[in-house]
Amino acid sequence: MKFIVKKNYDEVSKAAAEIFIIFLQNNPKAVLGLATGSTPLGLYSELIKAYQEGSIDFSEVRTFNLDEYVGLSAEHENSYSFYMKSNLFNHINIKKENYHIPSGTEKDYAIYCAEYEKMIDSAGGIDLLLLGVGENGHIAFNEPSTRLYSTTHIIDLSEDTIKVNSRFFQSIDEVPKQAITMGIGTIMKAKKIVLLATGRKKTNVINKLINERYITTEFPVSFLRAHRDVTVIVDEEAANFHNDKY
Ligand code: F6R
Repeated sequence: MKFIVKKNYDEVSKAAAEIFIIFLQNNPKAVLGLATGSTPLGLYSELIKAYQEGSIDFSEVRTFNLDEYVGLSAEHENSYSFYMKSNLFNHINIKKENYHIPSGTEKDYAIYCAEYEKMIDSAGGIDLLLLGVGENGHIAFNEPSTRLYSTTHIIDLSEDTIKVNSRFFQSIDEVPKQAITMGIGTIMKAKKIVLLATGRKKTNVINKLINERYITTEFPVSFLRAHRDVTVIVDEEAANFHNDKY
């Protein structure tokens, strides 16, 4: 695992953007895996800028998002579908049929999850996958647990995640209790992974990721230790290795 420490959020976003821009210039037909949440917003702005300046072209790029809340339609302003359109897709020349965000309103998730997984495989797998990380160590919505699913599945969100994500909703009661998410296996099959973490709230998780050696389902991000091409980009706050909480 390669760790890069940058001064602040903007520098992290720029460093991540550089990786994505170079990758897309060399692989115009790339299959990307994309995350939502607060952390990637700066990166997405940089990618929009690079597109507007003519440095990158999304016309042949395909994307698969990590996850979506169950129960929210694509039009709901807290859905990840809405997020991706407002923060990236509406501003670049990606084709509608080329981006995929898991649906939050399926009737039969057993069938739908298998189909989503199959779509990723049929696209040749994910070439470059963007990840954030939860304060509890979740990646996508693979929450700490005694067992983790390998492939795309439905998960009950943890109390912690519901609380943390309630900042995007009017009240905590509005936060969906379930999500559809890529599994740990889906993530591990990506050829290249970039994980971003910024701010003091991520210090503990980054400390643990750096200092511990084992892999455990109770700390899902630890699985990345077994992946051969992971770049973790953090800011100085997240990299504050002397935080007393750890
Ligand atoms: C989002 C996702 C989550 C977030 C994580 C961090 O698609 O899969 O794992 O990456 O919860 O969220 P932020 O960036 O808001 O701190």
